[in-house]
Amino acid sequence: MTGSWVNSAQSIGVDLHLELSGPGGRRAALTQALRDAVRSGRLAPGTRLPPYRSLAADLGVARNTVADAYGELVAEGWLTARQGSGTRVALGVVSPRSGRRESAEPRRQAVSMPVEAPSRARGPRHDLRQGTPDPSAFPRAAWAASYRRALLTAPSEAFGPGDPAGRRELREALTEYLARARGVRTEPDRIVICSGFGHALRLLITPDTPGRPNSPGTPGRPGAGGVLRGPLGVEAYGLAFHRDLLAAAGVRTVPLPLDEDGARVETLARERAVLLTPAHQFPTGGPLHPERRAAVIDWARAREAVVLEDDYDGEFRYDRRPVGALQGLDPERVIYVGSVSKSLSPALRLGWMVLPHRCVEPVLAAKGEREAWASVPDQLALADFVAGGSYDRHVRRMRLRYRRRRDRLVAALAAHAPHIEVTGVAAGLHAVLRLPPGTEGPTLRAAARRGIALDGLAGFRHPDAATGRDADGDAESDVTMGEGLVVGYAAPAEHAYGAALEALCGVLPPG
Ligand SMILES: Cc1ncc(COP(=O)(O)O)c(C=O)c1O
Repeated sequence: MTGSWVNSAQSIGVDLHLELSGPGGRRAALTQALRDAVRSGRLAPGTRLPPYRSLAADLGVARNTVADAYGELVAEGWLTARQGSGTRVALGVVSPRSGRRESAEPRRQAVSMPVEAPSRARGPRHDLRQGTPDPSAFPRAAWAASYRRALLTAPSEAFGPGDPAGRRELREALTEYLARARGVRTEPDRIVICSGFGHALRLLITPDTPGRPNSPGTPGRPGAGGVLRGPLGVEAYGLAFHRDLLAAAGVRTVPLPLDEDGARVETLARERAVLLTPAHQFPTGGPLHPERRAAVIDWARAREAVVLEDDYDGEFRYDRRPVGALQGLDPERVIYVGSVSKSLSPALRLGWMVLPHRCVEPVLAAKGEREAWASVPDQLALADFVAGGSYDRHVRRMRLRYRRRRDRLVAALAAHAPHIEVTGVAAGLHAVLRLPPGTEGPTLRAAARRGIALDGLAGFRHPDAATGRDADGDAESDVTMGEGLVVGYAAPAEHAYGAALEALCGVLPPG
């Protein structure tokens, strides 16, 4: 294709000469032309690019071709995409024209290349890792409005030393929200604000200090253990980060076998606590069967044990009836933990624990007077965001978006890899693609070569899972769940998702 002057004045007011030539088709040519334009400084940092539709019309290419080219350059860090302000040349790109980086920081590089791009953007071309909601969908305007209101209306004492339990305004807003949306039974005095699940886990395993009121540890014996003590049952598949945290604190974890009804809680025996993801098993994806929900509560009552409920993405359910919190069955036996990491952003570092009465004091003691709490202005902003209905609105909007993405993933697999079974799609922000034996490793390596970041099922397996127990408590040779890919469909920006799916289908093992 010959060079083309693009005049999308109706949208951006810049003329853009693009030379679409070279091997690899129009998308590759457009990507290269745009990259060259940024690299050479013809497109200055901050320049707004034309919307897909107008650039596609000007160049005579399909709208998706433009979307894919933009998506690739966003992933590489040359461009940024933000809802409401379109796609722009990244601010951190060095402009040889001006000879300086277009940011407040001192210039570090003489050559043109993306600098300062966030690590996820700098890394893979296609980000299909589980764990992150779409960062480009953060509700900036609504959050800013809540933040502003919170700052302007907060009493002066809010800017003094805080309450280790967290701001009462937030605990009250969460009491109402969690009861309504998740079936959690609580009152503000049983909620402790934290910075997320990892922080909650740390607080729960912090050794008890002698002489604390209502302490679960043995008085007078330092290091007698925190609210959670081992051996602790965990699902045979889960986040290694959480297992490592427990191991580092000396808490032994015992893997519970999983099947399509979730963790086989009937195998719990001498454990003193169990960590579960009842609404949406992480990462395999099913809810804990109602009979098992009842059974684990019976077990906890009989053994005076504790159930730790990780409700990490409970708001995102699509096909099936809502699965409420296990905590609702027995608030004195279940510690419920949630955070905004999936619903809003993991960057906020805001979470909450809903505690049995007897656990409140020990957790506050573990938190201490000088512990690094969640920022009080952020807590006040979240209180306003939740109480004013913005949280509900955002969750509903994102639920629709992720559901559509889930549908596109399922449709792409049906069209291009019908032999691959996809499971765990009824809820959450990720799905599991079941792979034939011996193909997980090679598929991950092929994906890495194509710039696709995603996880294999094996990475989530408890190191002792292969020697778990069967229902009678006897040693069982293998409780593993075969091979598979854990595909996160939330992380890519909207325009980059199609290309990511296409790339994924290109590396799956043949049927
Ligand atoms: C299984 C699981 N639990 C909890 C969380 C939330 O962690 P945090 O609240 O510490 O960000 C995540 C987030 O990725 C998760 O995957």
